[in-house]
Amino acid sequence: MNETMTAAFLPGDSTVELRTVPVPTPGHGEVLLRVKASTICGSDIRCIYHEHLGKGPEGYQGVIAGHEPCGKIVATGEGCRCFKTDDRVIVYHISGCGVCNDCRRGYMISCTSEKFRRAYGWQRDGGMAEFMVAEEKDLIALPDELSFADGAQVACGFGTVYEGLTKIGIDGNHAVLITGLGPVGLATGALCRKLGANKIIGIDVVPERMKIALDLGLCDTVLASGPDNVAQVKEITGGFGVERAVDCSAHHAARATAIRATRKWGKIVFIGEGGTVELNPSPDMIHDQKTLYGSWVTSTWLMEELVERLVRWKLHPADIITHRFPLERASEAYALMASGKCGKVAVCADEELV
Ligand SMILES: NC(=O)c1ccc[n+]([C@@H]2O[C@H](COP(=O)([O-])OP(=O)(O)OC[C@H]3O[C@@H](n4cnc5c(N)ncnc54)[C@H](O)[C@@H]3O)[C@@H](O)[C@H]2O)c1
Ligand SMILES: [Zn+2]
Ligand SMILES: [Zn+2]
Repeated sequence: MNETMTAAFLPGDSTVELRTVPVPTPGHGEVLLRVKASTICGSDIRCIYHEHLGKGPEGYQGVIAGHEPCGKIVATGEGCRCFKTDDRVIVYHISGCGVCNDCRRGYMISCTSEKFRRAYGWQRDGGMAEFMVAEEKDLIALPDELSFADGAQVACGFGTVYEGLTKIGIDGNHAVLITGLGPVGLATGALCRKLGANKIIGIDVVPERMKIALDLGLCDTVLASGPDNVAQVKEITGGFGVERAVDCSAHHAARATAIRATRKWGKIVFIGEGGTVELNPSPDMIHDQKTLYGSWVTSTWLMEELVERLVRWKLHPADIITHRFPLERASEAYALMASGKCGKVAVCADEELV
């Protein structure tokens, strides 16, 4: 095997730097993956690509970028207990200490160990490279029915959404409003369909994104973001509003719309990160008996459940990928994702680069 490889770094001035670095060696309990697909997330753009804004769990420490990798194991370190060479795997994107209460619940995202909590692509090397090292405990088996590009979106994208939807519960009684139709909002549409939502309404500001949501059949109605959104949603829902709303925009106005366009006894989940929201608790929430949830990523066990459901539902997360680039063109991939004129953007290798 080669001793060096190409890897992408994000200096924080809206550029991507490709460097030649040594191929890493897996240590105890670790594996070496040939990265087949590595997708770009809104969080990468928001916190790292334009500027290094994040602190703590969102602090970028100059490592190889990419927290949404999927690949095939090419070598294992000592002490691996389950996975072996040639296994196809998804990486849960935050490696936790494994023994704090949050890690024991499967939520390594909120691991409380300052020393051992390290997210791939943020505080430890991630997937925008030919190869990467991952800890065996962070791996989820990728079924044969799913492609590597499908798998790359199971942790941060579809996994995050599945968690949020599990909290509010979605079924055939529900009209659902999705504010923000980036990759996370599109994933919400795809999962709500399979969970049986009766009507799916989406809102965004970017025409390309609104079109993708309609073309892929992920929303029944798409509205341009504006001050009339609450009235428009009520009109589409018999004057009541939706039973469930999911904010995937992080925009203050869209968040307020998500709450106000939800009917009495309805449930709302906030997934979009950062920013603020202003609401009037009595009319917006209390008097209508509404429940608002926050949801951060997912757990390893729910990710395993999602992977099983994806196969059963014949749902392919890769269907929301609109653009694929080889690693050498990673800078074009990030620039496109930053423009918003796309669905999900993936950096791919080998059989995934078609
Ligand atoms: N909670 C979590 O665990 C978690 C996990 C992953 C991503 N995220 C966050 O989820 C959000 C969505 O991720 P993404 O990758 O789809 O990002 P994205 O930036 O591609 O998508 C956000 C979308 O919101 C739209 N938008 C902006 N203002 C709007 C408004 N006023 N009304 C309606 N739509 C509006 C944008 O046009 C864009 O299409 C981001 O904030 C990301 O950081 C959260
Ligand atoms: Zn992500
Ligand atoms: Zn922990």
